[in-house]
Amino acid sequence: MIPLIDIKAQNACLEAELLAACQAVIGSGAYILGEPVQAFERELGAFLGTPVMGVSSGTDALLLALMTLCIGPGDEVICPSFTFFSTAAAVARLGAKPVFVDSCPYCFCLDPTKVKELVNRRTKAIIPVHLFGQAADMQAIMDIARRHGLWVIEDVAQALGAQVEGQMAGTLGHFGTFSFYPTKNLSAFGDAGALTVQDPELEKKAQALRAHGAYKRYHHEYLGGNFRMDTLQAALLSVKLKYLKQHNKERLQQAARYQQAFEPLAGCYTPLLSASCGTSRMPVPQEAEILLPTLHPGRSSVWSLYTLQVLTGQRDALATALRNTGIATDVYYPLGLHAQPCFRQERLPHLPTVESLCAKVLSLPLYPGMTSQPQETVIQGLKEVMGQGDVVPLDPLSDSDFVKC
Ligand SMILES: Cc1ncc(COP(=O)(O)O)c(C=O)c1O
Repeated sequence: MIPLIDIKAQNACLEAELLAACQAVIGSGAYILGEPVQAFERELGAFLGTPVMGVSSGTDALLLALMTLCIGPGDEVICPSFTFFSTAAAVARLGAKPVFVDSCPYCFCLDPTKVKELVNRRTKAIIPVHLFGQAADMQAIMDIARRHGLWVIEDVAQALGAQVEGQMAGTLGHFGTFSFYPTKNLSAFGDAGALTVQDPELEKKAQALRAHGAYKRYHHEYLGGNFRMDTLQAALLSVKLKYLKQHNKERLQQAARYQQAFEPLAGCYTPLLSASCGTSRMPVPQEAEILLPTLHPGRSSVWSLYTLQVLTGQRDALATALRNTGIATDVYYPLGLHAQPCFRQERLPHLPTVESLCAKVLSLPLYPGMTSQPQETVIQGLKEVMGQGDVVPLDPLSDSDFVKC
């Protein structure tokens, strides 16, 4: 079976370096925070161009950002419904209300044109999520935030290295939250995350909240938590961070290869996007069966997922047919957060794009270390399922185009 993501493939060739980093930490006798965490914070800070704080997970980074802003009962936070659970759960766990906004049908991120109507005097913040690797429309989101005096917490769990007009996602809003869950672009060997805070005073407060709300040992200014990063995870992440650019480049090349192979197929269509969300410069043709993922101008993607939209109502049948030929796929996400039992409100918000995406999305295998052979099998598999096994892609890429670690 060709897996959707093969974590072992990217770690195998780093094994010697990873084991040496482990041994150094084990021998040090210090396992929470410490110099390896500070070193990782410096290195990731240099990559992003802003100071970074290592934390225990992406979920805890979100919680920490919201706690730093004292968000709680009576407050509302606008966030997408089409995202991973943590984005809204962090809001609800603090007693505030997540207010769900519809998504862009092309980039999957929250649609800023739908945000304004949700803002009221209780609204404190917006959490844009840079979904599946592509940066959200931060210019529009920051404009709305400035106009209404709102905080912006960027959820960068899926998009470390994505950019908006050359600026890194996670450095455009007031906070950036990152996850190093094992399937992410920069992946740990367990749970780990990071937080960026643009305001130095708020950054100090977040530092205190990370360790039980104490600036000074055993003197607790705030009701914080244990959001500390493990030393071992930091040491391993420092090794993997050196390869992040290469791994993101491989992802980009694999996405380009899919695009090049699928575009000539009858029924596959790539929308021509303008800078703002929600609109394609050309209407999607009636005969389109599969919408290929693509980018809004000015916003890059680090392709954490390569996600098609199956427009024929046959998404699950397509997934089954691919599985039967040995190709794994997955659905991120089958149900919007607004419809999850734990978030259900009296009146279900009307989010037509989220509902449509949940019924249509299908992600194909893509991961660092995936060579041309398994990718060719996926390409051939999709072509055959579409009854076009004989269509030859234009100028296929060779393995020498792929970066090796
Ligand atoms: C968009 C998004 N936000 C938050 C998280 C939470 O990160 P973690 O699993 O590190 O807590 C994830 C992880 O899956 C995610 O994809």
